[in-house]
Amino acid sequence: MKYPADVRIVEVGPRDGLQNEKKPLSAEVKIAFIDMLSDSGLRSIEAGSFVSPKWVPQMADTDKVYASIRKKDGVSYPVLVPNDKGMAAALAAGVKEIAVFAAASESFSQKNINCSIAESLERFKPVMAAASAAGVRVRGYVSCVLGCPYEGEIAPAAVVRTAKALYGMGCYEISLGDTIGTGTPVKTRALLQDVARDIPRESTAVHFHDTYGQALANILVALEEGLSVVDSAAAGLGGCPYAKGATGNVSTEDVLYMLHGMGLKTGVTLEKIAEAGRFIAAEVGKPLVSKVGQVIENSIKW
Ligand code: HMG
Ligand code: MG
Repeated sequence: MKYPADVRIVEVGPRDGLQNEKKPLSAEVKIAFIDMLSDSGLRSIEAGSFVSPKWVPQMADTDKVYASIRKKDGVSYPVLVPNDKGMAAALAAGVKEIAVFAAASESFSQKNINCSIAESLERFKPVMAAASAAGVRVRGYVSCVLGCPYEGEIAPAAVVRTAKALYGMGCYEISLGDTIGTGTPVKTRALLQDVARDIPRESTAVHFHDTYGQALANILVALEEGLSVVDSAAAGLGGCPYAKGATGNVSTEDVLYMLHGMGLKTGVTLEKIAEAGRFIAAEVGKPLVSKVGQVIENSIKW
């Protein structure tokens, strides 16, 4: 089996990891977390979102956080943007990369951003135009690619439709989100093969939540299918406020352990991520869910 030699990790902990946390965290804590992540060798760290503070209160201080993080050369700090109001805020903050997010499920689209999939794509048109004019790169998410909390099974054709629309609008990369973590390896492979007919593999990323413990197996399948970009969150924190019961993203520590064990390069230092993961889990007041993070915390050496 041929695997990609180099894998890019998109660290989503400061956004996806924290957006669902009820305990208010100060901007200083978020800044410290991102600065620790910046020292790990990561090339992409999602720094927050410019969404409605009524919908997602935990991200309300993204402007303050973004202004104060230490921006390291060669590291991108994308933020989520749902509409032109969010785009105006992102531009005012001076961001260089954003992510727009649409869904493969109509019901999830309504619950998450209060509009249909088609309406969300319309909303992104002025956002894309503003981004292009300002030289801002745009990543595109598709949610519920392997299941929806409201509709259950999602047809791969619906995923392909939304992914194609985002790619056609100018997103440089499409991240396929298993928002509730119900995906399994055979279904993941079939979906990735369908998507690959319309979107180059080098422009496709995977984003697994680990609710059912399937994420690493699914990531292995993605690597076998020739993908080389993986989203994950330090400490395995996270969830989506509009996908009740879904647990966190696959933990960056666990992903790194697997990739490095396979001899693949990421440029990321596992111990640095583990340190950042321990810090943020303690701040949130939750035990570490990352298995590899736990081993490092307990300093177990075999
Ligand atoms: P709405 O209520 O339909 O919007 O929400 P509206 O245009 O009617 O505005 C209502 C109020 O929100 C107004 O304020 C607007 O000014 C304000 P008011 O007059 O009531 O004081 N507003 C904003 N404020 C700040 N920033 C903005 C903004 N837009 C409007 N950008 C809206 C529509 C999209 C805004 C809302 O539904 C929203 O913010 N949703 C975000 C939900 C979200 O962040 N979900 C989590 C991220 S997605 C995810 O986790 C999945 C992913 O990880 C991949 C995966 O796992 O699958 C990416
Ligand atoms: Mg997510």
